[in-house]
Amino acid sequence: MTVTIVGSQLGDEGKGALVDRWGGDADVVVRYQGGDNAGHTVVEGGEEYKLSLVPSGAVRGKVGVLGNGCVVNPRTLFDEIDGLREKGLDPDVRVARRAHVIMPYHRVLDGIEEEVKAEDESGTEVGTTGRGIGPTYEDKVGRRGVRIGDLADRETLRERLEYVVPQKRALVEDVHGLEIDGTDREDAFDVDALLEEFAEFGERLADGGMTVNCSDFLHHRMQAGDRIMFEGAQGTSIDIDHGNYPFVTSSNPTAGGAAVGSGVGPTVVGQGEVVGIVKAYLSRVGSGPMPTELDGDEQEEALADFIREKGGEFGTVTGRPRRIGWLDLPMLRHASRVSGFTGVAVNHVDVLAGLDELKVAHAYELDGEVIETVPATAEEWARCEPIYREFDTWDEVDWTAVAEAGYDALPEATQTYLAYIAEEVDADVYAVGVGPDREDTVEVVNPYKKQ
Ligand code: GDP
Ligand code: IMO
Ligand code: MG
Repeated sequence: MTVTIVGSQLGDEGKGALVDRWGGDADVVVRYQGGDNAGHTVVEGGEEYKLSLVPSGAVRGKVGVLGNGCVVNPRTLFDEIDGLREKGLDPDVRVARRAHVIMPYHRVLDGIEEEVKAEDESGTEVGTTGRGIGPTYEDKVGRRGVRIGDLADRETLRERLEYVVPQKRALVEDVHGLEIDGTDREDAFDVDALLEEFAEFGERLADGGMTVNCSDFLHHRMQAGDRIMFEGAQGTSIDIDHGNYPFVTSSNPTAGGAAVGSGVGPTVVGQGEVVGIVKAYLSRVGSGPMPTELDGDEQEEALADFIREKGGEFGTVTGRPRRIGWLDLPMLRHASRVSGFTGVAVNHVDVLAGLDELKVAHAYELDGEVIETVPATAEEWARCEPIYREFDTWDEVDWTAVAEAGYDALPEATQTYLAYIAEEVDADVYAVGVGPDREDTVEVVNPYKKQ
């Protein structure tokens, strides 16, 4: 039995909190895409853990797997594991031999491409996390990537680097006209230095018994009766296929990615539960259209500031202030269809308490037509005018007491808001987030106990 956790919007919906909550009933937690661009927060008894690569199940002592669909920076991985050890955890992390390695030159190229786009005034700067995600997936698809399995074999690693590094060097020097030698970029393009550092990572992975053939590993664990949780990173609207291209990440956070990115069949993922994580409003870090953004006038900006401060809406990875907007139903309908949600968890309803007004984009008007789901191009999306519905607001209450008492203890206006979302996305509300801590969740259905 599997449970797949998927971001329904633009990332940072509080996926980590739900992975932690329900991860208690799982045995293995698998990341199936993305890399250290993710920042997942788990709060347990007031202690906060920020996880970029180590699956959020680590806080509960579960086996964490980075599937073949992930891109892995071994530097960040080991730093994060060491940091968690200092906090008293002992994360058991396995990495797919088929996963691709983020090399230092990928991060350099990510930075250069963003700078070039920014200077070009083309308006296509994505506002990436700068972690080298896009350039690594480019090399994967271009069949010139370095995989985790290659790190164990010095000769193969050397061959791969000798082929690819001169190409990257030419890209920087000849295409972008930038210097490498004598600058702080130098080490990232030095085959011998890369070989030494990454072969050593290969040894550390091997010594720790950390690499796996992901599909086999999960198959055997499931045969032995283990329960799997798939931990999606990012969100549907920044999915490379289903998001607002080109303002997207380079992988598939949507539920189909769980099968491809781990080597478990789509029938297995599909027989399980697929839970869309929804933030009760909208946040976005990075550029791209956002029809419901609260940035129209001073009053809207003040409201956005209030929500940003109260909700702690600053990027986990980069610290950037997140853009804030009203909940966007066309976006959620699209997310539910693309991933086939069986349920949703709606987080951050506590953050919306005490507002003077509460709006939701029920539909859009695009070039004189009313549409209920998102258009396929970012240009069209940018032209969409939200058609709002107003909802009654709710007051601040003792959310911890509400979490304990259950769904019926939620303010009536909150229940109306939640029922509307459930109806529109055609999925039941499984949980309601009323604060960051593991205990601050109103649980309606635990997906592992449903079937
Ligand atoms: P993720 O990337 O989807 O895992 O989400 P992030 O961890 O990047 O951002 C979510 C932030 O909101 C974190 O600081 C969480 O601790 C916090 N959070 C999660 N659920 C809730 C909630 O229901 N209410 C409040 N106030 N904060 C929450
Ligand atoms: P979690 O898992 C929010 C955004 C970046 C940028 C775009 C591409 O914490 O929800 P990338 O570095 O992936 O090439 O950047 O995607 N982005 C995220 N936004 N949450 C995330 O992860 C994100 N990961 C990437 O800001 O706009
Ligand atoms: Mg995050």
